[in-house]
Amino acid sequence: MQSKVLIPKRIFPEAIEYLQDKVELDYNDTDRNLSAAELLDRLQDKAGLISMLTNRFSAEVMDALPNLRVIANVAVGFDNIDIPAATERKIVVTHTPDVLTETTADFAWALMMSAARRIPEGERVLRAGKWDKWGIDLFCGPDIHHSTLGILGMGRIGQALVRRAQGFQMRVQYHDAFRAPAEVEQKLNLQFVTFDELFQTSDFVSVHVPLLPETRHLVGTDEFKLMKKTAVFINTSRGPVVDEAALAWALEQRLIAAAGLDVYEREPIVEPRLLALENAVLTPHIASASFNTRRAMCMLAAENLVTALEGKRPPTPVNWTLFNAR
Ligand code: DGY
Repeated sequence: MQSKVLIPKRIFPEAIEYLQDKVELDYNDTDRNLSAAELLDRLQDKAGLISMLTNRFSAEVMDALPNLRVIANVAVGFDNIDIPAATERKIVVTHTPDVLTETTADFAWALMMSAARRIPEGERVLRAGKWDKWGIDLFCGPDIHHSTLGILGMGRIGQALVRRAQGFQMRVQYHDAFRAPAEVEQKLNLQFVTFDELFQTSDFVSVHVPLLPETRHLVGTDEFKLMKKTAVFINTSRGPVVDEAALAWALEQRLIAAAGLDVYEREPIVEPRLLALENAVLTPHIASASFNTRRAMCMLAAENLVTALEGKRPPTPVNWTLFNAR
């Protein structure tokens, strides 16, 4: 008998094709988010689902789903799921690392370029018909090449960003709770600095840490006060890692020059003070949104789901300990 599976929102058709003859599908083939109550209801008889980062799985939710065995998240982040609670209940959680690394780093780079070189701001002026003359300092911003990039979190995406920085002959420094192995530091020509130093001495700070209890509001007023007035702040990780009100204040006060943000504290709501700022480049959580990458994420989630439902170790599990014990 095939396992019953929920796909709560439209995904790439290749993943549906792959799943079709392997599981019994309940597919919400639309972009409408199911409400928490609808999700709970449609999951009652399901052994697994492909979850989106907007689907929340607390211990309480999992307790209300007696048949649930696998949550296959279409994201590298899994802060929408209580992992210890899932592990305790022997629910396998999987995610989609690696396939999105380069695409996300490309996007962080694009935000850096856009915010520093004021591309959206210039475009807004031009489209509004307000560009009436060339000026010697019209939309001047800081240089990216030969400047110092500070990376908070030297994981896969952080390292992919370093590779891009090398082409721009940047000096790269980083901070992470866990220092990278010496061979990685050497190969990428990285300098490890303290948390405070990273903010004090970088021209660009880009955040690449996961959202954990200890990283919530990791960056706030104190850090923005440390930064150079000419610095640019980039966040493509998770919104709540940054105190958004403090960031809006820092941008308003010109404590820093600009920010490029793809993630927010209360998505899809964006702090209105940020919306009012010309020196904030704001995108709607699309850092991994290339066709190939989003397709690959859907395929990996589908493979994870099927493999875990078969009782085997899926390609990219989050709660590894469930498999070590088997
Ligand atoms: C992730 O994978 O965690 C992104 O935020 C969504 O692509």
